[in-house]
Amino acid sequence: MTTNENTRTLGSTGPAVFPLGLGCMGMSALYGEADRTESIATIHAYLDAVPEGAAALLDTGDFYGMGHNEMLIGEALRSAPAEAAERALISVKFGALRTVEGGFTGYDGRPEAVKNFLAYSLQRLGRDHIDVYRIARVDPDVPIEETVGAIAEAVEAGHVRHIGLSEVGADTLRRAAAVAPISDLQIEYSLISRGIEAEILPTARELGIGVTAYGVLSRGLISGHFSRDRELAPGDFRGMSPRFQGENLQRNLDLVDALRKVAEEKGVSVAQTAIAWVLSRGEDIVPLVGARRRDRLAEALGAMTVELTAADLAAIEEAVPAGAAAGERYPEAQMAHLDSEH
Ligand SMILES: NC(=O)c1ccc[n+]([C@@H]2O[C@H](COP(=O)([O-])OP(=O)(O)OC[C@H]3O[C@@H](n4cnc5c(N)ncnc54)[C@H](OP(=O)(O)O)[C@@H]3O)[C@@H](O)[C@H]2O)c1
Repeated sequence: MTTNENTRTLGSTGPAVFPLGLGCMGMSALYGEADRTESIATIHAYLDAVPEGAAALLDTGDFYGMGHNEMLIGEALRSAPAEAAERALISVKFGALRTVEGGFTGYDGRPEAVKNFLAYSLQRLGRDHIDVYRIARVDPDVPIEETVGAIAEAVEAGHVRHIGLSEVGADTLRRAAAVAPISDLQIEYSLISRGIEAEILPTARELGIGVTAYGVLSRGLISGHFSRDRELAPGDFRGMSPRFQGENLQRNLDLVDALRKVAEEKGVSVAQTAIAWVLSRGEDIVPLVGARRRDRLAEALGAMTVELTAADLAAIEEAVPAGAAAGERYPEAQMAHLDSEH
């Protein structure tokens, strides 16, 4: 599905984008304080790195900081060169219901809610359309056909360009694809989260649906920069994530040490090895990297020139065998919302 080396196409109906997307979540939420000026500078650096002729993919959610992330992206695009801003594609997730204190209380996928969420997002982003629109988690009370049908109406009205899905399983992929063309499934995929390989990825491929992979560094855990003594701010997702707790954390960091040896032999960083591995899994996969600083972004972009030979891939998978991660990828209550895990 590659158009050229600067782009990968999201599924058979989606847009062609730069092979690495920038996930902006951490600039507003979930990983502790972020620096606003540095966040905007990181978005600008990403836009700069995307060559002419390719589209830059910025990923967000309307609930990342309750609108904060969309407003930040809007500001970054307004202060970027017009030509770069025009080439930016924005992928937005919606549906999560929040509290003032930051809690998550469920998901709303009713058609009237979809239209409401969309109206607010367009306003916050300062755009007249969203490039890829998707519900973050399936609303258990609303058939996916109805939620996707509402987005399809927004496509017809010109407010949305493409329909995506997030963290859904194979059955839901099929049901959604029967309603309207789906560009991509956004789902966690990394050396230590390979659950999609059994059924979900083959189904997406059969249906011509691309994958935007998130958590390719497992939220920093396999970036090579995380350590046991890292202090996490209150509310940091990683403070609750099973993979970052006690013995699990130690076992997972042991895997990172094994990966570091492979990376060092190649003369690249651990993060670059982990991102390059995801890039190597198929031309239909676009990793989203959650860089929120320019130095981290530069490191991530460096993964695009890392060539992994068959021997490298074997060494990587020996260092981090499939299924070796200790702990689930979300706390139990959040696992229950994952259609992809049912
Ligand atoms: N659909 C969904 O359910 C869903 C869920 C989660 C995320 N997402 C999307 O996917 C995006 C990426 O997810 P993520 O942020 O959890 O994943 P990630 O890329 O696995 O992790 C990002 C974290 O890794 C650390 N890191 C260390 N070195 C890095 C490097 N060279 N480049 C980038 N990050 C580095 C950063 O923390 P430090 O800089 O502090 O070390 C950063 O906070 C999000 O921004 C969001 O848009 C979607």
